[in-house]
Amino acid sequence: MVVVFYVILIFIFDVAQSSIVLLSRKRNLNNITLSMKKSHRTFIEHFKPELKVYSPGRINFIGEHTDYNQGFVLPTAIDKKITFSFKRNNSPNVCNVLSTNYNAFLEFDLDQVFPSKVSWENYILGVVFEIQKISDKLEGFDCLIESELPEGSGISSSAALECGLASGLNELFDLGITKEELVFLSQKAEHLFVGTKCGIMDQYASIMSRADQVILLDCKTQQHRYINASFDPYEIVLLNTNVTHSLADSEYNTRRKECETVVDHVRNHHPEVDSLRDVTIALLNESRDDISQVLYERASYVIEENDRVLNAAGALEEGSLVRFGELMYASHEGLRHKYGVSCNELDFLVDFSKNYPEVIGSRMMGGGFGGCTINLIHKDKVGDYIKKVSPIYKKRFGITLNAFVTTASEGTLIDRL
Ligand code: GLA
Repeated sequence: MVVVFYVILIFIFDVAQSSIVLLSRKRNLNNITLSMKKSHRTFIEHFKPELKVYSPGRINFIGEHTDYNQGFVLPTAIDKKITFSFKRNNSPNVCNVLSTNYNAFLEFDLDQVFPSKVSWENYILGVVFEIQKISDKLEGFDCLIESELPEGSGISSSAALECGLASGLNELFDLGITKEELVFLSQKAEHLFVGTKCGIMDQYASIMSRADQVILLDCKTQQHRYINASFDPYEIVLLNTNVTHSLADSEYNTRRKECETVVDHVRNHHPEVDSLRDVTIALLNESRDDISQVLYERASYVIEENDRVLNAAGALEEGSLVRFGELMYASHEGLRHKYGVSCNELDFLVDFSKNYPEVIGSRMMGGGFGGCTINLIHKDKVGDYIKKVSPIYKKRFGITLNAFVTTASEGTLIDRL
């Protein structure tokens, strides 16, 4: 009797397991359970990759919200990454992607690549869609994705995901796509499938960075110059607020529209103007009466930030690190008061650091409304400073602060196994 009961129990458990697997195929992240993890384990155990791709996150020293205004940025890749393992699966069109972080499978057909309701899947599908526009050589593949990039922390896990997948498929199927094309198709994937009208900075940094250097990138022409990231005796420290305010996505596209509105007004007087990159403060002032104070501030922030980037690049080349740090602080003030993309947690961290001479520069980084601040802190004081700021941050916001030291690192790396 007991044995029969036990057998029935196992049967029920088995049925439950397979229905959960089916549900997961319907891409419903909420239904991921213990038994799904078992199927993930099986996938991983049988997986014999032929290719690994290491796709890094990025930092940006200065030049925030300037990229989609055709301005200047100063980013580089970091030593934290997403690792992709790939293999061709000999099917003409079936693709299987397992993300260990999302604890989820995505199975799709190359003949039916459409946007999904599940956010992370759109990064994958978007990239595949863009690749298919320029190449008909894609075939079925299996891919395992493992990330050490915390999402929403302003270090662009999104670009790392897009660029890592694009670079891996390019290599796996010998598609012959150039690095620059990979950058742009990854950006397009984010525009079309994810819906964020991002600039080019993150994808550019993730793919094109070089170890121990930063990239001074002109987002209008893609001309760029590598500058030695010589910050000694200061370390690059990221302080993660561990908040992502829900405004982040919608306000990003709103800022972009606001800037375009200003350009439209300036163009009424100066038809040659194409973006805020072509607008000086003098030109902006000519349209002052046509635009609101808010729009004026948005645009003047961008114009000033472009100047700051060029000055910061010069300061870095001259080894004027204190000047470099001052420009970082000034960038934060602009983002906070004029561009309106900071938040209390970020402002608190930047303000706090102003009391400590060992922190020569600090600012929010990335899209804003949460994520990390980037700080230059004297190497002898990093531990002390983190010990000071962490409990005070915790007391003020009830949130644990994460800190990590990072270095300017190489862009996407590919390893044929
Ligand atoms: C996000 C976008 C970038 C850039 C930054 C802000 O990271 O993906 O293109 O606009 O925000 O500088």
